[in-house]
Amino acid sequence: MTRTNHYLWWQRGTIYQVYPRSYQDSNDDGVGDLPGIVSRLDYLRWLGIDGVWISPIYPSPMKDFGYDVADYEAIHPLFGTLQDFDRLIAEAHARDIKVILDFVPNHSSDQHRWFVESRSSRTNPKRDWYIWRDPAPGGGPPNNWLSCFGGSAWEFDTRTGQYYYHAFLKEQPDLNWRNPNVVEAMLGVLRFWLDRGVDGFRVDVLWHLIKDDRFIDNPPNEAWREGMDPYQQLVPVHTTDRPEVHDIVHRMRRLFDEFDDRVLIGEIYLPVERLVQYYGGADLAGAHLPFNFQLINASWDARHLAKMIFEYENAIPQGGWPNWVLGNHDQHRIVTRVGPAQARVAAMLLLTLRGTPTMYYGDEIGMHDVPIPRERIQDPFEKNVPGRGLGRDPERTPMQWCAREKAGFTGGEPWLPIADDYREVNVEMERDDPCSMLALYQRLLSLRRGEPALEVGRFEPLDTDGDMLAYIRRGREAESTFLIALNLGARPQGMRVDEPGAIALSTHLDRAGERVDQTLELRADEGVIVRIGR
Ligand code: GLC
Repeated sequence: MTRTNHYLWWQRGTIYQVYPRSYQDSNDDGVGDLPGIVSRLDYLRWLGIDGVWISPIYPSPMKDFGYDVADYEAIHPLFGTLQDFDRLIAEAHARDIKVILDFVPNHSSDQHRWFVESRSSRTNPKRDWYIWRDPAPGGGPPNNWLSCFGGSAWEFDTRTGQYYYHAFLKEQPDLNWRNPNVVEAMLGVLRFWLDRGVDGFRVDVLWHLIKDDRFIDNPPNEAWREGMDPYQQLVPVHTTDRPEVHDIVHRMRRLFDEFDDRVLIGEIYLPVERLVQYYGGADLAGAHLPFNFQLINASWDARHLAKMIFEYENAIPQGGWPNWVLGNHDQHRIVTRVGPAQARVAAMLLLTLRGTPTMYYGDEIGMHDVPIPRERIQDPFEKNVPGRGLGRDPERTPMQWCAREKAGFTGGEPWLPIADDYREVNVEMERDDPCSMLALYQRLLSLRRGEPALEVGRFEPLDTDGDMLAYIRRGREAESTFLIALNLGARPQGMRVDEPGAIALSTHLDRAGERVDQTLELRADEGVIVRIGR
């Protein structure tokens, strides 16, 4: 007997990330909101996703657009009310869609009452809820630690004469996860939302939670060159991925296990051998899904991707479930990274690899990064470290729903500009176009659904060369088997096939039903899914 016949929703299903400020505005203030998301649930049902992950919706001064939380147990009025939230859960569940929230445990806003207390005096009971240090012996910051958003990670507080640590903005002080009271309070936050019916959490910067308690300088990164992200000047060995972080992850996981079927996802940017540690060892006591961002960082080359997929498959501990992410609110959009033609191939790759796929809103209609005029820049990262392509506004622009003014996103002035091509690139147009990107995503998701081989089947890499990437997804006996062949090049390429079959789907959406025997010819930038069998 194996347990492997039973798969959970977050193993079979597809996750779709909504950046709430940019999805759908319902009150014309130019910022998306919860009633807006509710009004688009039918669209998400039609598209065929299984869970939506919503970036932070809590009260926040919005210095980092919600990743600076001022109250972990309430809803920002910009997004709506707790009643709107309860309605979102109910309406999503009525459509068989799960709701995943964002949990931001590493830091709060400097406006959070905990930090307001903490900074009020050295003897305040909340002092040790954050990370306070004396100046270095000769004055200045306690050590060389850098903020991910530029400059020192230490901010001097004149009132109490000490520095506090902030891995991100100075308005985002890091909580002290070595303090058991912080751990209890933050687990209480998770319980608050899990009790309210939330189906899971994506945990922000999970690998940052614990820092070295000797406060040793981080070593220089020899590979850093002028012009690169300044944070990369040092190797963050003493500020991230500390061994004790796993105890915290286990605590979170044990809490999740008190509830049915909830999913714990970790945002973790680490090399694969370190990433997979977050599954929590042989007994899988850690995160269900340590987010796998390799498709985001990889060079778009068939040989490289084949190797990367193989190594990831082999690195995951026994029983651990893989996952793949193609885009998010911190990364340039896939269309911009690989071009519109390969973005279709990427969609097929994402939705046919073994493991839970995570899509980013708007990628399904082929949205690209939008250039942001200087006077409209919002992202603090771009403001702090300008002109290096690090800003994240371009991938956060409003969802394009239709060809009407403001793309159907808002009746007001959108908080970020809308792409110039929204009249062609939008949900309404693409829904009626059988060859659109949206049609491709919808077909891919509908083919996946109910095909055990594609949802949970084995992954068998095939030997290919040149720009071809190919693999088999195999279910159990009596279930279909699929061959997936992807041409990552701009020239036609063919491959031998051992078993005959018929094309179930081409990225060009025009070859379904075509028989395949002995050889399979792909056009430039084409991917196909072949159902094996006579
Ligand atoms: C994560 C979020 C990012 C945010 C940062 C600080 O990386 O995805 O948007 O700026 O954490 O919370």
